[in-house]
Amino acid sequence: MSRTRTALLAAMALIAGASGTALAAYPADAGVSAIPCTVDYKVQNDWGTGFTANVTITNNGAAKSSWAVKWSYAGNQKVTSGWNAKVTQSGTAVTAANESYNGTLPTGGSTSFGFQGTYSGTNAVPATFTLDGVTCNVDDGGGGPTNPPDPGTGNRVDNPYSGAKVYVNPEWAANAAAEPGGSRIANQPTGVWLDRVAAIAGAGGKMGLRAHLDEALKQKGSGELAVQLVIYDLPGRDCAALASNGEFGPTDIDKYKTQYIDPIAAILADPKYASLRIVTTVELDSLPNLVTNVSPRNTATPNCDTMKSNGNYIKGVGYALNKLGDVPNVYNYVDAGHHGWLGWDDNFSATVQTIKQAATAEGATVNDVHGFITNTANYSALKEPYYTINDSVNGKSVRESKWVDWNRYVDELSYAQAFRQEAVSQGFASGVGMLIDTSRNGWGGSARPTGPGAKTDVDTYVDGGRIDRRLNTGNWCNQSGAGLGERPQASPAAGIDAYVWIKPPGESDGASSAIPNDEGKGFDRMCDPTYTGNPRNNNHMSGALPNAPLSGHWFSAQFQQLMQNAYPPLP
Ligand code: BGC
Repeated sequence: MSRTRTALLAAMALIAGASGTALAAYPADAGVSAIPCTVDYKVQNDWGTGFTANVTITNNGAAKSSWAVKWSYAGNQKVTSGWNAKVTQSGTAVTAANESYNGTLPTGGSTSFGFQGTYSGTNAVPATFTLDGVTCNVDDGGGGPTNPPDPGTGNRVDNPYSGAKVYVNPEWAANAAAEPGGSRIANQPTGVWLDRVAAIAGAGGKMGLRAHLDEALKQKGSGELAVQLVIYDLPGRDCAALASNGEFGPTDIDKYKTQYIDPIAAILADPKYASLRIVTTVELDSLPNLVTNVSPRNTATPNCDTMKSNGNYIKGVGYALNKLGDVPNVYNYVDAGHHGWLGWDDNFSATVQTIKQAATAEGATVNDVHGFITNTANYSALKEPYYTINDSVNGKSVRESKWVDWNRYVDELSYAQAFRQEAVSQGFASGVGMLIDTSRNGWGGSARPTGPGAKTDVDTYVDGGRIDRRLNTGNWCNQSGAGLGERPQASPAAGIDAYVWIKPPGESDGASSAIPNDEGKGFDRMCDPTYTGNPRNNNHMSGALPNAPLSGHWFSAQFQQLMQNAYPPLP
C-alpha cells in the first residue's frame, strides 16, 4: 500500500454546483418499497440549549415536483433557521417545504435539508413524520426491533459493532501468541485480508473465506458478531507504490469482477452466514490515489494516471459496492485515506466526490455505502493531545508549521468526523459511520512527549508536542517508533462506529529490499530505511524499519516494537 500525500497548494479546480442538497435517484429497495416514504431525522450537534439536525426524506411513491414534510415536537423545540428547505413552525407543528431548486423528487429519490433550533429539557426525535400528508416510517438509525430499517439498507443495524463481538482471526492470533508477550493481544479482532483470488479458497494452506465464516459462526454463539473482511485486489492495485501491487494488471477489470468479487459475493450470500454482520472495507488507497497522485501534480505516477484514465478503479469499486451491498447483512465501508494524506483543502472534498462517483457507478448507489474507514494500515495519530489546529505561537498558526504544512487536521479523530460531515453534505446517507484503524497509531513508549512543545516558534511547539513521531505524514512503510493504538472498541466517539484493527499488527507493509515472489509484489523504496524519499513524502527519509519481509508477511521485530510502544500501554 502507499499512503501518499500531495504537494501542497496545488491548483485546484473549483467545484461547481450547489452543495448540501442530496438528490439521488435509485431504484427503491425491494424490502422497503411498501413504505410510501422514509424520513431520517438526525440531530447533528446538541449543545444543551440548541441543536442542528439533518433530515433525509426518501420518496417511494409517485414522482413529485414539490413536497412538504411535517412533524410535531413533544418538547419545546423551536426551529430558528433552515437550509435546503423552507422550515416554519406553528406551536409544536413544523413544516419543511422544498426550495425552488429541490422540489423534484422522483420515485426512489431522496433529498436532505437541515435546520437549527433551540430547546430546554429533552430534545427527543419526533415520533411521526408525514410527506404530503402520508405517514412515513421513522428512521432514527437504530435499526433495532422497534426501529424500521434505514432506507435501502434491508435490515441492517445502524452500527454493526454495537452490541457485537468481533471475529478473532485464529491465524493471526496464533502468530501473535507465538511471540513473547503476544498473548496480551492475541485475542484482539483483526481484519481478514482477501488480497488475491487464491485467498478466497485459502492460499498456501491458509484458511479461505468459508473457513473464516464457519469459524465466525462458532465464535458468535447465540450473540451478535461482526466479521471484518478486506476487499483488496483491484486491477492495477497500489498505483502510487510497488510494495502491494497485486495480481491483476490495469485492464483486468473483468477478471476482478468475475474471479474475485462475484465469488466473494456468492459466498457471503449463503444463507448459512445470514446471521453474521459482515463488515467489508473496500479497496484501500485506490480512490484517493486518483485524486492526489495523478497529473498534473508533481506527485503523479504513470500507473495512477493510467488507472484514472481507464476508469477501472471507479468501476471496480462501484461493482464491489453494488454486488456486496446486495447481500443484506454486508456493511460496506469505503476507504477514506487518512488526515496526513487527504486533510489538505485540495484533496478533501475532491476525494469525497471521487468516492461518490464510484458509489454511483456500475449499479451502486450511495445506499450501498454504510460508512468509511480512515487510517487503514497507516500510522496517523488518533488524537494529538498537546496541540490543536487552532493554536498559534507568536501570532503564527500551527498550520504554518513544517509538520502540519497547511493541513486542516492534526489527527485522525477530527479528520474522520469532518470526513463524515463532508460525505453527508455530498449526498451520502446521514447515518453513515466511520471506522478508524488504530492498529499501529499508538505512538507510546519512552519517546512519547508528555506535554506541549516549547513556544519558541510554531515548529518547536508542534515538534516538541506531537505524538506522531514520523519524519513526514507521507511515510507509510513499517514505521520506526510506532506502537499499537487504541484497542478495538465500538462507538468510541461521535460519528465513529468503531476503532478497529484492520491491518493485523506484525504483518509487514513491504520488503526493505527486493525479494522475488509470486504475489505480484514489487519493491518500494519507501520500505528501505536508506531511501531519501520522493515528492509524495516531501523528500524525507522513509523512516522504515530494516530487514522487513514482503507485505503481509510476519515481521517479528515490528510486532515487538508495536507492543513496546503501545498506547494505551499493554499491561
Ligand atoms: C499486503 C497484503 C496483506 C495485508 C495485511 C498488505 O500490505 O499487500 O498482502 O494481506 O497487507 O497484512
